[in-house]
Amino acid sequence: MCTDAMLLTEVEPSLRPLTPATYRVVARRVETDDVVTLSLEAISGSNLQFRPGQFNMLTAFGVGEVAISISSAPGAPGPIEHTVRNVGAVTNALCNAAVGSVVGVRGPFGTDWGVDDLDDSDVVIVAGGIGLAPLRGAISYLVDKPGRTGKVFVLVGAREPDQITFPDDLERWERDGAIVKITVDVADAGWKGAIGVVTTLLPTVDFDPARTVALVCGPEIMMRFTVRGLADLGVAYGSIRVSLERNMQCGVGWCGHCQLGPLLICRDGPVFAYSESLERLISERER
Ligand SMILES: Cc1cc2nc3c(=O)[nH]c(=O)nc-3n(C[C@H](O)[C@H](O)[C@H](O)COP(=O)(O)OP(=O)(O)OC[C@H]3O[C@@H](n4cnc5c(N)ncnc54)[C@H](O)[C@@H]3O)c2cc1C
Ligand code: FES
Repeated sequence: MCTDAMLLTEVEPSLRPLTPATYRVVARRVETDDVVTLSLEAISGSNLQFRPGQFNMLTAFGVGEVAISISSAPGAPGPIEHTVRNVGAVTNALCNAAVGSVVGVRGPFGTDWGVDDLDDSDVVIVAGGIGLAPLRGAISYLVDKPGRTGKVFVLVGAREPDQITFPDDLERWERDGAIVKITVDVADAGWKGAIGVVTTLLPTVDFDPARTVALVCGPEIMMRFTVRGLADLGVAYGSIRVSLERNMQCGVGWCGHCQLGPLLICRDGPVFAYSESLERLISERER
């Protein structure tokens, strides 16, 4: 006899992009008061393969499904990680998923940061708030890749010191050769670092604009000002990559929910090379 469950497991994953695979939560790490990282292991078969910058659709069963970037590094042993900010019903259920519970995973979807071909480039990574999560795997990949000649700069902005995510990674990347700088909008009594928006860090680092590629992720307004700051320092628009977010449903270019002008963010993005036409599309939404 052939049951529905058998049919689902027997179909090749790429042929059923709307059917989530089941993953178990094997660890849960609280990053800040509203951000949690979930470590997930496939219940049957091996974990999915992905490129840094891609996202999965995660299901909290009985609640709903949302797009969440993969925050671990590609090829890293062990579970895959997703870092979730609690902003609504589904992300609340995911942030509260207990170790041992089961979530759905569809993906990976979308474009990636394209870090494979940056061996000779200086890479300037600019993250605002939880925007560090989609960049985390790319940073680890670049820092750990043997034989790279370009430098890696990691510039992070957070609202307050207790909103800084991945402090252990930031220390580790610096130990392993990256130039790491952090700034906060509002300091507390113990904060000894920089104060101000993340763009204020750009002129403090010494990169060669002609051989620089920038990877930028955060709120759209922060990305626009960061692009402007990078361009003022001589980095070409085409060398700046940004990750965009829109409300998603299918994740595979079928439903149109994530449309931005002629683009579908799930299919053509979320990572885009910056351009004047992309800037116009983003600016129109902000007006
Ligand atoms: C490609 C991609 C990658 C993402 N990666 C991450 C990630 O790594 N970590 C993470 O925490 N979140 C990420 N998000 C955002 C996440 O999908 C939304 O926060 C989530 O859909 C909110 O769902 P909810 O049911 O919890 O809240 P809802 O009740 O649906 O929304 C709560 C609030 O968030 C706003 N919102 C909903 N969806 C989005 C969205 N896609 N973009 C911006 N605002 C939104 C709503 O307008 C509302 O104000 C990503 C989104 C995309 C498209
Ligand atoms: S989410 Fe359906 S087309 Fe992008």
